[in-house]
Amino acid sequence: MKKLLKINPFNINLDLISKAAKIIKKGGLVAFPTETVYGLGANGLNPCAVSKIFAVKKRPLNDPLILHLSQKEDLFKYTQNPPKIALKLIDKFWPGPLTLVLKKTKIIPDIVTAGFDTVALRMPANEIALRLIKESSIPIAAPSANLFSRPSSVTAQHIIDDLGNKVDLIIDGGKTLVGIESTILDLTYDPPFILRPGGISKEELEKVIKKVKVFCYKNKVLASGMFPKHYSPKAKVILIKNNNKNYIKKIMNLALSFKGQKVGILTTDENINKYPGFIVKSLGPKNNTIICASNLFSILREFDQEKIDIIIAETIKKKGLGLAIMDRLKKASQV
Ligand code: TXA
Ligand code: MG
Repeated sequence: MKKLLKINPFNINLDLISKAAKIIKKGGLVAFPTETVYGLGANGLNPCAVSKIFAVKKRPLNDPLILHLSQKEDLFKYTQNPPKIALKLIDKFWPGPLTLVLKKTKIIPDIVTAGFDTVALRMPANEIALRLIKESSIPIAAPSANLFSRPSSVTAQHIIDDLGNKVDLIIDGGKTLVGIESTILDLTYDPPFILRPGGISKEELEKVIKKVKVFCYKNKVLASGMFPKHYSPKAKVILIKNNNKNYIKKIMNLALSFKGQKVGILTTDENINKYPGFIVKSLGPKNNTIICASNLFSILREFDQEKIDIIIAETIKKKGLGLAIMDRLKKASQV
């Protein structure tokens, strides 16, 4: 590994932030914590720096990046005529896990937006991230800090595991709070589309905008870089609906059918003792989707560490952050 810096989020060492900002300004890559997941950051106005992100992650160039801002006003620098609703949303949700897709201005290099005329912007609710962006005095382009199509990193160790010495600096600011990525809301459509459910639930958004639609892959109108297979552990993921009374039996029978393979079961606290003989992990209490979301990616990666071949996962209700959890599990289970 090239360099790892520990920064205490409650007592931020500004000298260390300034070192990290220097790397960004020089066109290097810095992995840093946000409130959602870790980001792999580069100077968002420098195409050469941004191209390194794609190379290191092995990410296709047609998958655009999010620009991270340190203050709400910067939205006006990077978007053309943002609608009133954008201002209402940033007033309520920034800093926080909401990314807005809007018409971009010319300053943003094409490589950031994969050639689209829109840009995705967010202001993260994490002091380390905010100070790093401010000190770098540019917007930071950052995808999640993982290899393309792997589960996102929620600890510095996950970044080391995926990207090792390919990053100039990793800032370790502890485990991220939300644990899943931001909600991406496309405001260039009316009604707005949730392109990716995430840390801000649909219900919360509906308190501010009356009508919100959720993007579905069958809808060919939207040309975004959202790929159906994503967030995948090395193990094969099989999703089983838990909406009928026989699902525990169904899961047990399925698990027993994989002879000679190591099976793990992903459930919630209520069912943790229902699968004797198998490696069982719980996301948390089924009605607390905030806790369940915060554990999702670290548990998927734990299964990999334990060399599990097959993960059988129970579905959870698509309420609150449950919609985002199911989106990630569905994409993880695509073959
Ligand atoms: O919480 C998060 O959003 C994290 C942290 C690091 O901020 N970032 C993150 O970035 O999850 P990434 O690159 O893993 O996912 C961003 C998604 C991509 O799937 C991309 O297709 C979509 O945002 N996106 C970016 N720009 C877009 C645009 N102009 N139009 C539509 N989708 C866009
Ligand atoms: Mg990602």
